Amino acid sequence: MKPKLPPAAKKLFIKTYGCQMNVYDSDRMADALAPHGYEPTADIGDADLVVLNTCHIREKASEKVFSELGRLKELRDERRTGGEDIMIGVAGCVAQAEGEEIVRRSPVVDLVFGPQSYHRLPELIARAGQGTVIDTEFPEEDKFEHLPAAAREVTIKRGLTAFLTVQEGCDKFCSFCVVPYTRGAEVSRPVEQVLAEARGLLAAGVMELTLLGQNVNAYHGLDARGRSVGLGELCFRLAEIPGLERLRYTTSHPLDMTDELIEAHRDLEKLMPYLHLPVQSGSDRILRAMRRRHTRATYMNVTKRILNARSDLALSGDFIVGFPGETEADFAETLSIAAEVGYASAFTFKYSTRPGTPGATMDDQVPEAIKSERLARLNDQIMSQTRAFAKSCEGRVLPVLIEKHGRNSGQVGGRSPYLQAVHMEGPERLIGTIQPVEIVKAGNNSLLGKIVTIAEPNSVSLLESHASVA
Ligand code: SAH
Ligand code: SF4
Ligand code: F3S
Repeated sequence: MKPKLPPAAKKLFIKTYGCQMNVYDSDRMADALAPHGYEPTADIGDADLVVLNTCHIREKASEKVFSELGRLKELRDERRTGGEDIMIGVAGCVAQAEGEEIVRRSPVVDLVFGPQSYHRLPELIARAGQGTVIDTEFPEEDKFEHLPAAAREVTIKRGLTAFLTVQEGCDKFCSFCVVPYTRGAEVSRPVEQVLAEARGLLAAGVMELTLLGQNVNAYHGLDARGRSVGLGELCFRLAEIPGLERLRYTTSHPLDMTDELIEAHRDLEKLMPYLHLPVQSGSDRILRAMRRRHTRATYMNVTKRILNARSDLALSGDFIVGFPGETEADFAETLSIAAEVGYASAFTFKYSTRPGTPGATMDDQVPEAIKSERLARLNDQIMSQTRAFAKSCEGRVLPVLIEKHGRNSGQVGGRSPYLQAVHMEGPERLIGTIQPVEIVKAGNNSLLGKIVTIAEPNSVSLLESHASVA
């Protein structure tokens, strides 16, 4: 009898749009397909399966998908001329929000599936061979129970930092936002499931974990005894796992900054002193219309509580300009809260009307030109705040996680606790260690540093496992 040959590897190309949760999901999709013979490729021209992992948050993000599908149609036509084929899937938040509409607009699509169906992907692909498949259900089963973990070598290749989704969905229903519709109700993963995934990542040499959730600090997973555990306690539990050097989480809502989470910032050195805490607007009138459920004063109070617990903490934020009804006076309050909080960085957006959200039908939509003008002013201010923050780091000694070679030989590069890129002279063997680095000069997009004294790693295995990645 002839020996059975392994199935020929098929090539998978995933293009990721949107937030970090989509980045995490794309990796999990690749992990789900790996046992079925799919290997990731960086070359779309080489792919047997292309998945667009999409974002619906603003109109522009959403429309990108359709222009990409236009290009993919050309690729498919070329393939077919050569007697070959390619399968095209649309995943993520546009898939969830628009479902069949995607296939109507772009018949080139074979497969449309929402974020809650990723564990079913191998089965959906098999069905798509016989005709278009659409799966945007919110299934009963826990997809995480069915998604395979990444192989150790794959985790090693992905680097020293990793994302870990602990919570999905949102119950807040801010009046501008599609997330509660695209990602559904808030669901937290059980504590043991999160700890097990973290242990696997850390055992493969990951040093820094970023816990993810659309509303991550609303996390309330059940522990082994059926008790509800908040994000603060989860941080304490994770910090005990050997190998974890740094912990972060994103994105948080100001109302969910509990005392316990603030205590975690006070007591856990490993919890990085950098917090993304969007405020969206500085005007109480607009915050009310946005249904944010907090005022300027309550937000300021939360930031004070956190800074009392950890004085070296820096904040980053998100802002929307031009929400319906926003006047020049309201916008001035946004500029003033940004200065008052002293954000080290921020993401700024023009309000984008999202069909189906309450904001879409509000009176007093702000003209595009005014939105653009306000965005430019806010960006100028944020940029100068970011520069001032970088400048304030000059002379400080910051722990830097060294992740890669630098631009020039003899240099290495890494990240400060505040996610700033830092470059410095240093030997390659320091990749995979945390070094005390004096910040010598703040550049435009990165910091120049000098290692103070080389701290040798306490675990040789980390260096070994990452030598091949470097
Ligand atoms: N859960 C997070 C934010 C998730 S969406 C929170 O509550 O803060 C990421 C960011 O996109 C938001 O903070 C907001 O600034 C921006 N955003 C969301 N909907 C938007 C819209 N319709 N137009 C413009 N920006 C939007
Ligand atoms: Fe969207 Fe965040 Fe508001 Fe939820 S809390 S609706 S994700 S902006
Ligand atoms: Fe976009 Fe969905 Fe994330 S809408 S921002 S990809 S949750």
